[in-house]
Amino acid sequence: MSTKLTLTAIKADVGGFVGHTAVHPEVAESCRRRLEEAREKGRILDFEVGEVGDDQHLLMTHRRGVDDPEIHRLAWDAFLAGTEVARRLKLYAAGQDLLADAFSGNVRGMGPGCAEMEFVERKSEPVIVFRADKCGPGAWNLPLFRMFADAFNTPGLVIDPAMHGGFTFFVLDALEGKEVTLAMPEDLYDLLALLGSTGRYVVSKVLRRADGEIAAAASTQKLALIAGKYVGKDDPVLLVRCQSGFPAVGEALEPFAFPHTVSGWMRGSHNGPLMPCSVATAHPTRFDGPPRVVAAGFQIAEGRLVGPRDLFDDPSFDRARQTANEIADYLRRHGPFEPHRLPEKDMEYTTLPQVLARLRSRFAAAKESNGRAPSAKRTRAGVS
Ligand code: F6R
Ligand code: MG
Ligand code: MG
Repeated sequence: MSTKLTLTAIKADVGGFVGHTAVHPEVAESCRRRLEEAREKGRILDFEVGEVGDDQHLLMTHRRGVDDPEIHRLAWDAFLAGTEVARRLKLYAAGQDLLADAFSGNVRGMGPGCAEMEFVERKSEPVIVFRADKCGPGAWNLPLFRMFADAFNTPGLVIDPAMHGGFTFFVLDALEGKEVTLAMPEDLYDLLALLGSTGRYVVSKVLRRADGEIAAAASTQKLALIAGKYVGKDDPVLLVRCQSGFPAVGEALEPFAFPHTVSGWMRGSHNGPLMPCSVATAHPTRFDGPPRVVAAGFQIAEGRLVGPRDLFDDPSFDRARQTANEIADYLRRHGPFEPHRLPEKDMEYTTLPQVLARLRSRFAAAKESNGRAPSAKRTRAGVS
């Protein structure tokens, strides 16, 4: 058992109320009972049961380190209990994210999303848990870049000696299952070369270079790739430590004042703006969206989670919400056309291939305008 504290966030969609818009209070209650029992037995120090849209989030503190089978099983069992309730109430897509039949030691690869970090608790330990619905883990690429590598967002990178040494990004190639570490600011352009491809490269963690302290950790699960067919999106979670050598709370929240475009809206098949919301308003109803992000702030005291504070419940994010609605209007007018709808290669795991397969037999060899068969040597865009 470690003297360090472990912060574990695990989340899953175990059934929607109504459709894919929210978590039912009885589902949350059944998860809460499981974690309460575990806290009474001393298996965890503290917990919080949170949500965004249709995703049930569990946050736990303990001293068992990351990837601990007992902690992961506890979350899995809580989700199973939630699923039972969801089945009884016939909530929508009950048990959606529990892809495996039986627990096998770690929730990674089984459906739920998981972000964890281990650290020695500081004199004061402010942490933000960002939770997003209707998008994938690439949604964190832009905000993480701005928090930890962009001085126009985070003046601490320039004026706080404890941050001036920069941060190291761990970037996962979700397709190949490989990881690369890039040190800011030297590798800035390389980092951007990767992070711009939000569907493939995702940030798994960020460390402070001066001392290797963990600064941020994100869930990087890609449900579609795990399941091999479309079973929902990843709807990621992100942990960020703040203040005293890490981004100030306001520096960590600031990137979300720009509602950047993410993929995952309606049927996991559309691009849309990521709207920062209070927890009470994070219920995606318009065209099952637009995608939402909430920020739950905590002070951690000897493992106790003091909070949450609902950090986007602030009129200073009204403009971002208004902009997000304007972008949503604009994109919706494209209907089924790109770039609102995702490009065809990103639709591989949706039901679109089934529709296209039925069309295939109706395709015939195309004739060129002069009646000849198309040349095999034709180059891209027809220009040689
Ligand atoms: C789910 C989501 C929704 C669903 C849509 C269709 O997180 O993004 O937009 O994809 O409601 O759901 P089904 O296919 O279950 O009817
Ligand atoms: Mg759902
Ligand atoms: Mg969801």
